[in-house]
Amino acid sequence: MERRFVPSLITTEAWEGYTFAGLDIRIKESTDYYGAVLWPSAIVLCHFLDSHRETYNLMDKNVIEIGAGTGLVTIVTSLLGARVTSTDLPDILGNLRYNVNRNTRGRCQHPPHVTELTWGNNVEETFPRASDCFDYIMAADVVYAHPYLTELMETFDHLCQDNTVILWAMRYRLDRENTFVERFQKLFHLEELYDLPSLMIKLFRATRRFPCSQQHRCPA
Ligand SMILES: C[S@@+](CC[C@H](N)C(=O)[O-])C[C@H]1O[C@@H](n2cnc3c(N)ncnc32)[C@H](O)[C@@H]1O
Repeated sequence: MERRFVPSLITTEAWEGYTFAGLDIRIKESTDYYGAVLWPSAIVLCHFLDSHRETYNLMDKNVIEIGAGTGLVTIVTSLLGARVTSTDLPDILGNLRYNVNRNTRGRCQHPPHVTELTWGNNVEETFPRASDCFDYIMAADVVYAHPYLTELMETFDHLCQDNTVILWAMRYRLDRENTFVERFQKLFHLEELYDLPSLMIKLFRATRRFPCSQQHRCPA
């Protein structure tokens, strides 16, 4: 993995450069919103995916990313062969779509789909459980001091089916985040894949503790 910052001296646009999946990726950030900045958890998750391609083979897998922000995880996941639905709040989608299109066009088998997912907000209508079956849920730095932690938990619970694997990079900042992890463990088995104390980031793999009810299951 490589990382570099290119200031806007010659062009009108500054961007962060990364190399994942053997390809150069350019990410445009904006300081207007949290979601338009690339957070270190996303880099940790991308590094994991890129260096564990055999264990976590994403080829043709159905993946959803929640709180996708600038889109790095969506981009890397798509370049590794997955069918990706990339989601965030409405205000974030413009920059997200720009980065995703710019970095995946003509480079991946399944062009990613960028769409709104506001946690807890009509999730069953937008992503019906009976038809939207995801092999993986990707989440990087979605837990911090925001007022939607309950809705976030409901969203994980809704999207995660019996065979879904959640890959979640978590940046620890405050006690509230520890409480979220404790509550999360009541619903999901949690396995620690990375612990990076200097970054205060852990990477988790999670699966459902209890099976989905019959009427909510994806067809076998
Ligand atoms: C700290 S940023 C992380 C962005 C990206 N995953 C990364 O690691 O670079 C948190 C993300 O969660 C999104 N978010 C916050 N509240 C949300 C909500 N209620 N529903 C959906 N997304 C939300 C933000 O828009 C933002 O993209």
